Amino acid sequence: MTEKNTNPLSVVILAAGQGTRMRSQLPKVLHEVAGKPLLAHVIGTATRLGAEAIHVVYGHGGAAVQTALAGLHVNWVEQSEQLGTGHAVAQAIPHIPGSHRVLILYGDVPLIGQETLERLVTSAGNSVVSLLTAEVDDPDGYGRILLNVDGNVSGIVEQKDASKQQLAIREINTGMLSAPAAKLDSWLKRLSNDNAQGEYYLTDVIAMAAAEGVAVHSVRADNEEEILGVNDRSQLAYLERCYQANVAHKLMSDGVTLRDPKRIDVRGDIQVGTDIVIDINVVFEGRVVLGSNVHIGANCVLRDVVVGEGTVILPNCVVENSEIGDDCQIGPFTRIRPDSILQAGVKLGNFVETKKTSIGRGSKINHLSYIGDATVGNGVNVGAGCITCNYDGANKYQTVIGDGAFIGSDCQLVAPVKIGERAYVGAGSTITKDAPPEQLSVSRSKQIVIKGWKPPKKAKN
Ligand code: UD1
Ligand code: CA
Repeated sequence: MTEKNTNPLSVVILAAGQGTRMRSQLPKVLHEVAGKPLLAHVIGTATRLGAEAIHVVYGHGGAAVQTALAGLHVNWVEQSEQLGTGHAVAQAIPHIPGSHRVLILYGDVPLIGQETLERLVTSAGNSVVSLLTAEVDDPDGYGRILLNVDGNVSGIVEQKDASKQQLAIREINTGMLSAPAAKLDSWLKRLSNDNAQGEYYLTDVIAMAAAEGVAVHSVRADNEEEILGVNDRSQLAYLERCYQANVAHKLMSDGVTLRDPKRIDVRGDIQVGTDIVIDINVVFEGRVVLGSNVHIGANCVLRDVVVGEGTVILPNCVVENSEIGDDCQIGPFTRIRPDSILQAGVKLGNFVETKKTSIGRGSKINHLSYIGDATVGNGVNVGAGCITCNYDGANKYQTVIGDGAFIGSDCQLVAPVKIGERAYVGAGSTITKDAPPEQLSVSRSKQIVIKGWKPPKKAKN
């Protein structure tokens, strides 16, 4: 978004607070919305703004935060004592060139939107201060925006320092602001902690800017939830619902039918075709791709999955890290474990589990089977209750089933083993040697009848 004639952007994210009200061992900013740490949401948004550098000011639980977010490209700045928001920003300033524009964000305000921030930063330009404010019914706890007689922002007064008259102001400070780095530096150096909380308030720079004749713009967020912070688990749950409501709305506008937009959770990225129908209580995690005309029944969990067009997933299935082709039918109650690759038209029924297995076109495994470390050809029929015995307690072995093979019910295929093309395996067989193509292989003891057998009788006492 960096526009011509604007200076590079440095983002500072404040994340040093303790988060006492979470009542948690976990640092507050590592609590999750949509399966992702609060701080990671903010870093992601800052990254999409095209910031040249992102500085995260950490304090409490700093090591844990850095470990959890090790993959993200940020500069960690320690604030060893939490002496106030102004002090926190001052820790990052030495890392920021004076020519940059600075944007201040908060690690516990996860839903701040890219568009809102673009407006904020654009409004600040290279030489002006821009403040994200909101008009609220209940301003309790927030800093209040003070205006001069011309209606321009002249300062911010914190709740604890405010007069009765000031407390009635309903335009509040969200805390997020953008300012030129060199000026911000000079103002921060002049902060004092002579106030009700004995803190160095970032908010005091606003009055300094106004006194120097630097214009202070106020900008409003696009949505109410963008400015909300997380202090306790109720607020965390509220923002989770806001996030999920937005995702549900987006899916519906992309042409997906949701039986109940309140009962779907997306914890990651989802890519969709059209005319998809999703029943209630479905959870998507990681990267999920759904082709057009996919139907997903109630209570399914899909993590890192690609689902081909026209495939139907019936209720209560769990699918992980796998690929399902077009026009498959899965479930109900199927568990597809990682590295399962299903070609078009495959049917997996109830209580079937697959793992590290590829299954060819049109093959069916309809009931109560475990197929792992296997290659199953096209048009194979696996009867009820079949098991690939892939593990000897130390190592895992492959089972290969050729095209058109028919495995009767209740067979154990003891790997490594091959079933030839169009081979039949008789029900109840334990197959330990390769079964040749187009032949019937059977391994079961002969049935006998015990003549004169009498059923047992209850003992008398
Ligand atoms: C701050 C603003 C207030 C605004 C409100 C919005 C100041 C002085 N006041 O008040 O005008 O309405 O946010 O929520 O800025 N932090 C640090 N280091 C510190 C202190 C705070 O990293 O030394 C971080 C905290 O982790 C938190 C954020 O800064 O995420 C806000 O700090 P907090 O003390 O909660 O400020 P508020 O009193 O809410
Ligand atoms: Ca706060």
